[in-house]
Amino acid sequence: MSRVVVTGRIPDAAIEKLRAEHDVDAWDGPETISRDELLRRVAGADAIVSLLTERVDAELLDAAGPQLKVVANVAVGYDNIDVPACSERSIVATNTPGVLTDATADIAFGLILMATRRLGEGERLIRSGQAWKWGMYFLLGSSLQGKTLGVVGMGGIGQATARRAKAFGMEIVYQSRSEIDPTIAADLGARRVDLDELLAVSDVVSVHCPYGPATHHLIGAEQLAAMKSSAFLINTARGPIVDEDALATALREGVIAGAGLDVYEKEPSVHPGLLELDNVALLPHLGSATVETRTGMAMLAADNALAVLSGERPPAPIA
Ligand code: GLV
Repeated sequence: MSRVVVTGRIPDAAIEKLRAEHDVDAWDGPETISRDELLRRVAGADAIVSLLTERVDAELLDAAGPQLKVVANVAVGYDNIDVPACSERSIVATNTPGVLTDATADIAFGLILMATRRLGEGERLIRSGQAWKWGMYFLLGSSLQGKTLGVVGMGGIGQATARRAKAFGMEIVYQSRSEIDPTIAADLGARRVDLDELLAVSDVVSVHCPYGPATHHLIGAEQLAAMKSSAFLINTARGPIVDEDALATALREGVIAGAGLDVYEKEPSVHPGLLELDNVALLPHLGSATVETRTGMAMLAADNALAVLSGERPPAPIA
């Protein structure tokens, strides 16, 4: 029996699956586990099942000890994990791709609709109790049909967002490290372009690339200025890909028309400049937040941990 430490609450089915084979110590406090508590609990762990709120760095790996074999992140993004530090210690790191693709693309598209059709503003107006009535020019937004979606990072979630956009009658361009499967590109009518062209031609720019040193502030003041003044920026990937300060300025000064965010630079804090603006829709990192998806993520993380503990290749190793 190995010792498995789970750093936060995950669906019972995954805990039961782990418990059937191993000794499981799962944090189930109402708040995120404190760093001190985490460092204490991981001591002697053979596997850590981590949430994206926990930083898995050299200090934590060393606190666990040399027997640690696997860090199974319950997220597709793994910027919370120091992967080189894991590799140096021969610890396998895994993530949960695939199972959250549709849920996240749904939220990206939800934000596209919220931003372009001013849904948050309408909701806030009704709840404020202010008088309102239908009017020809009341809360007019922008249509999506015939417009161009620019997908930054055309992995699974980018492609799923593009599929939704196509169903809404949008044209697709994308920027990605590599060309996507030609059949999928043809089906979506998607054209690969560089970031400069994408920013210049898109009516909605949706960010789906992973976060790392290469994508820190990928969208900053210069990129926002290169977008159409009628365009919208959507981010469901990771906050620091967008320079939030520059975004708040661009939104306030009409450099772009609006934005929709599910992720933030200093999560869970939100830039105060964004909070006071009406032309940005703000969600609290809900990308994968469905019962089905979270269960799928936790089960995949459990499978990853179990595979490594039994000496097998996990289903979703981080490359
Ligand atoms: C959520 O943000 C994830 O990376 O899974």
